[in-house]
Order: sequence, then structure tokens, then C-alpha cells
Amino acid sequence: MRRFIEDVRTVQAKDPAARGFWEVFFTYNGVRALRMHRRAHWFYLHKCGFLARLISAHARRLTGIDIHPGATIGRRCFIDHGTGVVIGETAVVGDDVVIYQGVTLGGTGKDTGKRHPTIEDRVMLSAGAKVLGSFCVGHDSRIGAGSVVLKPVPPHSTVVGVPGRIVKTNDVRIADLDQVHVPDPILEEFSRLNERIIQLEKELGIHACRYSIAQDIMPSANPCEEEENS
Ligand SMILES: CC(C)(COP(=O)(O)OP(=O)(O)OC[C@H]1O[C@@H](n2cnc3c(N)ncnc32)[C@H](O)[C@@H]1OP(=O)(O)O)[C@@H](O)C(=O)NCCC(=O)NCCS
Repeated sequence: MRRFIEDVRTVQAKDPAARGFWEVFFTYNGVRALRMHRRAHWFYLHKCGFLARLISAHARRLTGIDIHPGATIGRRCFIDHGTGVVIGETAVVGDDVVIYQGVTLGGTGKDTGKRHPTIEDRVMLSAGAKVLGSFCVGHDSRIGAGSVVLKPVPPHSTVVGVPGRIVKTNDVRIADLDQVHVPDPILEEFSRLNERIIQLEKELGIHACRYSIAQDIMPSANPCEEEENS
């Protein structure tokens, strides 16, 4: 009962739209799903898997929130709206975690045993975020709406996008990597060699016609052009 009152108080503290205690008690899907999950989890731990699955299936029908009875959920978890939330069997959710609608804590289908993520304390999982795999999302991190997270996340990080990338650590922006103008060390080395060959040819009086893929780097390196121009 104490845990249940704590759940309601958590919603009142975190959701500005929440009015009275009884409104939250009767109308918040997340509160109901957590209450039913705790019962299902108890049966799961006491080897009554069938009963546990019956309760979780009933909870899913009532709330739209699908929590496997094996999942471990910490204290003061707030599942806002909740529709479409899916939490897998081996997922572990810490304390004070906020979960919005459409979040999946799932597996990739490649792992066995622990297949689902561990979400540390005070993480926010925004609407539609998918966290897939058996890794850890560090405490006080935020996962952006619609992100697909496939790798471990260090604490105090903000992750956005598909696939998820860290854009902030401790609220400080991470410098953008230029994904278009990526240096090409092999092409640069060829350019240097080409330059030396041209110098040697000039010294020996040889005028070989050539095409270089590195012309963008050395625009004056084609003696054919020089010949044509003269
Ligand atoms: C992840 C989130 C918390 C980030 O907040 P923040 O720390 O203030 O980060 P910023 O807004 O400064 O964004 C940082 C960068 O990530 C980008 N970004 C933020 N959220 C994003 C998202 N969901 N998907 C893709 N990119 C996103 C921003 O455009 C910005 O990019 P830029 O540096 O190129 O301008 C927030 O954007 C978010 O997704 N909130 C959703 C909350 C929610 O689910 N509400 C549902 C209520 S029903």
C-alpha cells in the first residue's frame, strides 16, 4: 500500500496536469500498470509463471502497457500516458525513471539470457524511444523522442536520433563531427606521390599525359592541360 501511495504522489509531483490523489488513483494508466506489475512480478518470482502472465496480459488489455512479469522496476517510476509501452522480461529499470508513451525496452533478437536493457536511476525515456539490447543507460540520461538506442549510454548523456547518438554530456553540447568531408589518408598519400612524379618528370623533360583522381586536391597537376593551354 505504501508503494502505491508513493506511485500516486510521484505522478502528482511530476505531472502538472495531475489534479487530486483520487483522480490519479482511478485514471492514470501508468499507476494501474505498475500496481498490477508488482503483483505479477511477485508470482513470477514465486515460480507461478502462468498466473503472472495472466495478470500482465490483463494489465495490457486494461492499460495498453505491456510489462513482462519478469521485468524489475524500481521505485517512483512514472509511466506517463503509457499507451504502447513495452518492457521486456530481463529489463531492469532503476528509481525515479520517467517513461513516456511508445517506449520499448526490448531485445535485438540476437541475445540469449539477459536480452533487455538496464535503465539506471533518474533516466528520462521520451515518447517513442526504443532501447534495444542488453546494455546500460547511465543514470540521469535523457533519451530523445523517437530515438533508437543500440549501444551503452554513459551517465548524464542526452541521446537523440536513429541510431541514437550522444549530443550532450552534462548538458554540454558535443562538437559535431563533419560526416561529409571525412579525411582520406590514402588519397592524400597518392597525391603526394603524384606530385613527386610530376616534379621528376619535369626535371627529366618527360611529358606524360595522365589523369589523377586527386585533381581536386592538386588542380595544377595535369601536364596535359598545360600542354593544351600553351
Ligand atoms: C531529448 C530531449 C529531452 C533533448 O532535450 P535537450 O537536452 O534540451 O536538447 P536540445 O533541445 O538542446 O537538443 C540538442 C540537439 O538534439 C536535437 N534533438 C532534440 N531532440 C531530438 C529528437 N527527439 N530527435 C532528433 N533530434 C533531436 C536538437 O535539434 C538539437 O540539435 P542541434 O544541436 O543540431 O540543434 C528532447 O528533445 C525530447 O526529445 N523531449 C521529448 C519529451 C517527450 O517525449 N515528451 C512527450 C510528452 S507527452
